[in-house]
Amino acid sequence: MRWHYRLSGRWIASGWLQLWLAVCALTLLVVGSAGNQTSAAGDKEKLTIYRGARLYVEYACVKCHEEGGRGRSVPPVPGLSLSSSEFKRSFPKGDPHFEDALLSVIKNGSILEGQGIASMPAWNGIIPEQDIRAIVAYIHADLPDLGIPPLPARTGEQVYEAFACIKCHGPLGVGGVKNVEAGPENQTIPGLGGPAFRKKFDNIDKVRQIVEQGKHAERGKAGVVFMPSWGRIGSPDQLDKVVGYIYR
Ligand code: HEC
Ligand code: HEC
Repeated sequence: MRWHYRLSGRWIASGWLQLWLAVCALTLLVVGSAGNQTSAAGDKEKLTIYRGARLYVEYACVKCHEEGGRGRSVPPVPGLSLSSSEFKRSFPKGDPHFEDALLSVIKNGSILEGQGIASMPAWNGIIPEQDIRAIVAYIHADLPDLGIPPLPARTGEQVYEAFACIKCHGPLGVGGVKNVEAGPENQTIPGLGGPAFRKKFDNIDKVRQIVEQGKHAERGKAGVVFMPSWGRIGSPDQLDKVVGYIYR
């Protein structure tokens, strides 16, 4: 304790004060720069979630799973909200495989059997993997409401976009979109016009039937894109209009 007496009271005060201020400044510097880094990472994550929310509308996920991933009962479509006990059971949030498990369902789809029942479409090669990851980030964030407006679906052409027909069959139904895992005969998703189409579909009711009930040439083969069933997902009026748009 003797050294204490040898230092003047003033030195003690100013010396400790200087040291204290230096520590404070350093702490602020470190905390500040770490803060900048985390906020940059946070901004990037927010942008990804926002992009995921837009893609959720663009690829018609919203048509079946509804806004905020509420799900629906007719036809049955599971909710995607983290608070739904069913979803939590299949995809527990802390699970290290959460992201990969969702990625796999979105790529490969999942078929539910039965008349007028919707299936989970396979989006393999249709949605770029990076975009699937953005949708997964949006689901991981519990599908917040980010004010993204629904796509209009009043005219046939609008329904064709809002129900993502355009993503698989191309603009104006010209087809040609690759079905990467399909066998040689189904390697491109069919166009929805031209003489071959007219020959196959000699009346409009046959087109309507496929749009309602879907079609899967290679059932049971993972990663093959198939025609989802849209009956009861689209209103009868919307289905009439989109079928009329294809079968002009
Ligand atoms: C045509 C309707 C339809 C569309 C469009 C659709 N889904 Fe699904 N989805 C379903 C159905 C039905 C199931 C349930 C499948 C089952 O139980 O086998 C499902 C299941 C899922 C699951 C698994 C949920 C669980 O609890 O098992 C996820 C995740 C999912 N869909 C995400 C998406 C995303 C993302 C999109 C858009 C890119 C999308 N879905 C588009 C109908 C649809
Ligand atoms: C996820 C991709 C996907 C989406 C979305 C999709 N289709 Fe298809 N569609 C297909 C595939 C794949 C086939 C071929 C099915 C087969 O023959 O096995 C097909 C077949 C069809 C056929 C029969 C064509 C033929 O030559 O046999 C019609 C008509 C059709 N789709 C209309 C629509 C309409 C209308 C929509 C929107 C409401 C739509 N599709 C949305 C993938 C899709």
